[in-house]
Amino acid sequence: MEYNADIAFDVLRSTVEAIEPELEKIYKTEDGPASKLYEAERYSLLSGGKRIRPALVLETCRMLGGDEEAALPFACAVEMIHTYSLIHDDLPCMDDDDMRRGRLTNHKVFGEAYATLAGDGLLTDAFSVCAMNPYVSGDCAAAAVALLSGAAGSWGMVKGQVIDMYGEENPLTEQELTELHMGKTGAMICVSVQLGCLAAGLSPNDDMVRRLTSFAQKIGLVFQIIDDILDVTSTDEEFGKRTGSDANKNKTTFISFFSVEEARQYAASLTREAIREIEDIDASDRLISLAEYLCDRKR
Ligand code: IPE
Ligand code: IPE
Ligand code: MG
Ligand code: MG
Ligand code: MG
Repeated sequence: MEYNADIAFDVLRSTVEAIEPELEKIYKTEDGPASKLYEAERYSLLSGGKRIRPALVLETCRMLGGDEEAALPFACAVEMIHTYSLIHDDLPCMDDDDMRRGRLTNHKVFGEAYATLAGDGLLTDAFSVCAMNPYVSGDCAAAAVALLSGAAGSWGMVKGQVIDMYGEENPLTEQELTELHMGKTGAMICVSVQLGCLAAGLSPNDDMVRRLTSFAQKIGLVFQIIDDILDVTSTDEEFGKRTGSDANKNKTTFISFFSVEEARQYAASLTREAIREIEDIDASDRLISLAEYLCDRKR
């Protein structure tokens, strides 16, 4: 797919520049008996993720004419929850992976107990970062916390992770696989766009929120289809995590139903549908480039 890669890279670079100093401020190193906890949290949080979810928060808010400072705490909160989910996803009791973001997984460095607690800390702290956003009203912060908890919890990402485990032992239908992906990956991508809307002053039931959620559901599914493809086609170095991990764990993925080429075509057609949802919104060019990058990404 031809697209303006320069815009997408600028979106990701500016997101890194905006959120990393904020994350540094939240997780300062501290001496004392709990110092290893903060070290473990910083190790995964500040280790070079692509920052796609915070980019969606910031760019949605920007497109709708909102202030970046109102969106920043929400952007940090989604990245903190995402990072917790990766730490726990890699644990021996889950995917049992030893490489993440180009280096050893959290439990390989700090041990399983610290990795579990670092994840617990990041998840829980995210809600206070979100609730205490000083640049939005109390009602807006409360709505953001409710949406974030819905996306991350038992009917969102956690549900998706459970269906993912169930799929190791049981055959899934294509519809169940879509439900799996919409949960484990789609939910946090959708809520990122929704929090960008709230930061820009929209109410949760605004029509624009519904429209952007439909865009996000499609790119969320694309995101996970590409993750499944790269698990088969990429190298450990480029992907920053172990390839072949899904097949080793007997996971049901998009590659269980489609060839790599068919899966790519499906992702490209979903991306075109997603773009159609937003192309007539003013200043949607940066979100469109990000959507195209998600379909074309190599890591
Ligand atoms: C990886 O997410 C986990 C999935 C939900 C597939 P990313 O590919 O966004 O990981 P980072 O944050 O860039 O490391
Ligand atoms: C993980 O999905 C999704 C979450 C962490 C919620 P995967 O297991 O496919 O992610 P990777 O491939 O390990 O990054
Ligand atoms: Mg997993
Ligand atoms: Mg995994
Ligand atoms: Mg994967």
